[in-house]
Amino acid sequence: DRGGFDHYMLKEIHDQPIAVAKTIENRCDIEKGQINLRKMTLFNTKLKEINRIQIIACGTSYYAGCLSRYFIEKFTGIPVDVELASESRYRTPTVNVHTLSIAVSQSGETIDTLQAIKFAKANKAQTVAMVNVPGTSIGHECDDECMLYAGPEVGVASTKAFSAQLSALILLGLTIAQEQEKLPKEKIAEYINELVKVPSFIEKVLTLSSKIKEIAKKYCDVNSILFIGRGYQWPIALEGALKLKELSYIHAEGYAAGELKHGPIALIDENMTVVCLAPKDQYYEKTISNIEEIRARGGKILSVGTEGDTELKNISNDFIGIPECSEIVLPFLTTVPMHLFAYWIAVHKGTDVDQPRNLAKSVTVE
Ligand code: F6R
Repeated sequence: DRGGFDHYMLKEIHDQPIAVAKTIENRCDIEKGQINLRKMTLFNTKLKEINRIQIIACGTSYYAGCLSRYFIEKFTGIPVDVELASESRYRTPTVNVHTLSIAVSQSGETIDTLQAIKFAKANKAQTVAMVNVPGTSIGHECDDECMLYAGPEVGVASTKAFSAQLSALILLGLTIAQEQEKLPKEKIAEYINELVKVPSFIEKVLTLSSKIKEIAKKYCDVNSILFIGRGYQWPIALEGALKLKELSYIHAEGYAAGELKHGPIALIDENMTVVCLAPKDQYYEKTISNIEEIRARGGKILSVGTEGDTELKNISNDFIGIPECSEIVLPFLTTVPMHLFAYWIAVHKGTDVDQPRNLAKSVTVE
C-alpha cells in the first residue's frame, strides 16, 4: 500500500517521523532523563566492559554507521571503527571480548554483513544485530538484537531505515555512556530531550518537498554532481550521492569538504554542480570558505543550510533552508532533502524509482 503516494519511496520518505518515533519512543524515559535499558533489549552484551566499538554494514546502512560514529565517540570516548562488510570480512580485524560489534542492516540478510559479524563473533566480540525485520539471519547470529521499528521498507533505495538506524545508533551510544558513566546524568537527559523532538522537526522539512521538486527540475540534465559536507554532514553527502546515482543514474560523488583541495577541486568549472551541506554548526565557517572556492571557479551551488541564512543563500544558485535545531537533530534534517532531491530528479527523468536497474532490495549474493 503506497498510502496515496506515487511511489513507495516517497511514502517511505514521509514515513521517517514515525520510523524514528517508533524506534526511540519506549527506549527514552523522558521523565527520568534516562535510556530505558530493558527496552534496548541488550540482554547478553556486557556494555560496561566494552572498550572498542566496531560497526559493520553496507551501502546506506554503512553511512548511518559513519554518521553515528561522531556521536558515539563524543558520548563515550570509546574508539569506533565503521567497516564496510565486504572489506572487513576479508581482513583480520582485531576484536576481542571487550569489542562490541554491531551489524547494521535493514533487511538483516545482507550476506557480507552476515559473514563479517560471524567473523567478529568467532573471535569473541560481543555482537548486536540492528535490523528492521524480525527473524533474520543476522539477528539469529548475534548475541543481542536491537530492533529498528521503521516498518516494512519496499522501495529498493533505503530511506526511512537510514533515519531509524541513526536514531538507534545514537541511542546505543547514549546507553553505553549511561552504563559506563561517561556522561553526566543531566547531559544524557538533555540529549534525550532533543532526540524526541526529531520526528516533529522532520515533519517540517518534509513540507519542502514541492520546493525541492522545482529545484530538481533544473538539475536533471547534468552529467555529474559532487556532494560535500564536513563532520557528520560528510556521511550525509555520501548518502546524497549514493541515492542520486542509484535512482537517476547520474554520476555523483560525496566528498569531505576539506578534501576538495586535495584533488577534486580540479573538476570544478561552470559545468559542475556541487550540493553543499552547510547548516549553522561548528563547521559552518570552514564549509563556507569551500563554497567560495567552488563559486570562484564557476561551479553551480545547491546548498542546504539553516533557514534565514542569507550569507549562504547569496553565494548559492539554489538554497534549501532547514529549521534551526540542536546538533543531535541536525543530521536527520539535512538527510531528508538528499532523499527528496534524488527522488524528484529520478521522477523528472522517468526512471523506475522503486526498482532501479541492476539492484536488489536484499543482497544475498556475494
Ligand atoms: C541504498 C541501499 C543499499 C542498502 C545496502 C545494505 O539506497 O538501499 O545501499 O543500504 O544494500 O542493505 P541492508 O541494510 O539491508 O543490509
